[in-house]
Amino acid sequence: MRILAYLLASSLLVVLTGNSFAQGKPPRSAIPEVSSELLQLYNRIGKDRKYEAKILDQVSLRTEFCFSCHGKTGNSERFYIPRLAGQNEGYLLEQLYKFSVSKRYHYVMVPLASSFEGTDIAGLARFFSKQKNIPRAQYLKKDELNLTLAKSGKELFQEKCAQCHGKGGKGNQRYARLAGQHPSYIESQLLVFRSRGKARPSTPMQNVSRNLTDHQILALANYAASL
Ligand code: HEC
Ligand code: HEC
Repeated sequence: MRILAYLLASSLLVVLTGNSFAQGKPPRSAIPEVSSELLQLYNRIGKDRKYEAKILDQVSLRTEFCFSCHGKTGNSERFYIPRLAGQNEGYLLEQLYKFSVSKRYHYVMVPLASSFEGTDIAGLARFFSKQKNIPRAQYLKKDELNLTLAKSGKELFQEKCAQCHGKGGKGNQRYARLAGQHPSYIESQLLVFRSRGKARPSTPMQNVSRNLTDHQILALANYAASL
């Protein structure tokens, strides 16, 4: 009886809020913008250990190449190249997919990802999400993070960004982790979104960033990176 009451209560929650995110972790199937083939691979990798090991083995040669820009194990030390270590798997899957079909544009990443099979994309997303995100104090250059600016971005972040990227900036399967990312990289992406640039035509982010000033963008970037 108690179980029945719990089930009823939790499905009511889903109905009331309109989605299952209210229950905490979104389901693995909740990655909006990828092909169904990729979604299947992603779900299988999450369930089947043997299959996961096989796919990780398949991408192990490719990862060496990624390290040359994104840093060893994805902890990039260059301010303009995003850190991938510990980034959310669903987000990585979606972005690699977008590069592979030119829905996100970058002169290096598009030609690279266009040559990928679905198993490469799913395997690379799995691999980098499993790498340890080294604490920022160990990789950020001394003057890369401005703590005064970071402080001034806190309130705005919690008001406008936390609902999707999380209070602690860690995101979830669906939304990017921003915590510990390079501030300059975050800033550059916010500027692209605000300008409605073709490089990243994301509707939620274009709307969110539309009225942000340069100073607010700088403050938000420093705050998110400092988390
Ligand atoms: C020659 C340098 C270079 C190499 C090699 C490279 N990348 Fe990138 N990558 C970049 C840059 C620069 C960006 C930022 C693109 C932008 O500004 O939109 C990026 C962005 C990304 C992103 C988006 C991250 C985010 O936070 O949205 C992913 C995912 C990614 N790369 C994965 C890979 C993988 C996997 C490999 C190896 C197969 C790889 N990259 C190899 C330079 C590189
Ligand atoms: C309604 C949900 C939502 C809100 C609110 C939101 N974001 Fe996002 N954000 C997204 C989505 C979706 C993406 C992925 C866009 C894409 O695929 O290009 C994203 C991507 C980003 C990225 C790129 C991350 C990377 O690794 O390249 C940054 C930076 C970012 N958001 C910052 C912010 C900031 C700062 C705010 C608050 C001012 C904010 N977001 C509010 C949904 C949201």
